[in-house]
Amino acid sequence: MSNTGKTLVITGATKGIGKACAYRFAKEGINVAFTYNSNEESAKEIAADLEAQFGIKARYYPYNILEPETAKELFLKIDEDFDRVDYFISNAMIYGRAVVGGYNKFMKLKPRGLNNIYTATVDAFVCASQQAAKRMTNGGAIVSLSSTGNLVYIENYAGHGTNKAAVEAMVRYAATELGQMGIRVNAVSGGPIDTDALKAFTNYEEVAAKTAELSPLNRMGQPEDLASACYFLCSDESSWITGSTLIVDGGTTFKK
Ligand SMILES: NC(=O)c1ccc[n+]([C@@H]2O[C@H](COP(=O)([O-])OP(=O)(O)OC[C@H]3O[C@@H](n4cnc5c(N)ncnc54)[C@H](OP(=O)(O)O)[C@@H]3O)[C@@H](O)[C@H]2O)c1
Repeated sequence: MSNTGKTLVITGATKGIGKACAYRFAKEGINVAFTYNSNEESAKEIAADLEAQFGIKARYYPYNILEPETAKELFLKIDEDFDRVDYFISNAMIYGRAVVGGYNKFMKLKPRGLNNIYTATVDAFVCASQQAAKRMTNGGAIVSLSSTGNLVYIENYAGHGTNKAAVEAMVRYAATELGQMGIRVNAVSGGPIDTDALKAFTNYEEVAAKTAELSPLNRMGQPEDLASACYFLCSDESSWITGSTLIVDGGTTFKK
């Protein structure tokens, strides 16, 4: 089926996995509506580059996943530029001050940081997916980014790991109820991927080296590895896959 005229909405595509997804979908001829939080200049450059390289339409919008109910206004703005939504990827994630008390050892976890991560992970997925689903009148696909940090221990990752487990459960609930609208909902659970988010880990060097060592493929994951999985789960090639989590971890989770 032709991708011409189809539209992807994705949160947090200024860098890392979100940016790789934007390029992957644009390469397939799909228009891209993406959000940024602090990097408007990068968003502007990416949109111009996507249009120049792939001849698709690309637009960028501010959106803060700590205020997920503003997804309604975000999609109203997207409606002004695009006449349909076919795919939605919930990708953006908070870091830095917003995760203080959430990104820590168990004995140092605090409700405010944990709640922020819940808001940015689960609430943000729910609010934006609701808006996207309303617009998927010809069916569509929704993907949430998740992490194998909900299956294996990662230092300081309890807040993120538990909320990734929660969003995977929410994906299954959404899939069960949205199937009758022709909408499939899945998660892509990545092992450690070489992005700025991982570089923000206090033990980045250690995680990077250990990941390459643990993987039978002897390398870190790259943003493009997850972008391919997201594209697969949106394409017709996965037409009977819904409510699933696709693990893309270079074989690191089942370690020797
Ligand atoms: N990296 C990994 O190892 C890994 C592994 C598995 C899963 N994941 C998941 O994959 C997703 C993307 O991770 P990444 O590593 O690509 O992250 P990243 O490179 O740090 O990019 C984060 C993106 O989120 C946006 N963002 C930050 N704070 C935001 C806020 N408050 N509201 C809205 N957007 C905000 C950023 O926008 P600005 O630049 O405009 O601020 C940026 O586009 C996350 O859900 C993450 O949990 C990552």
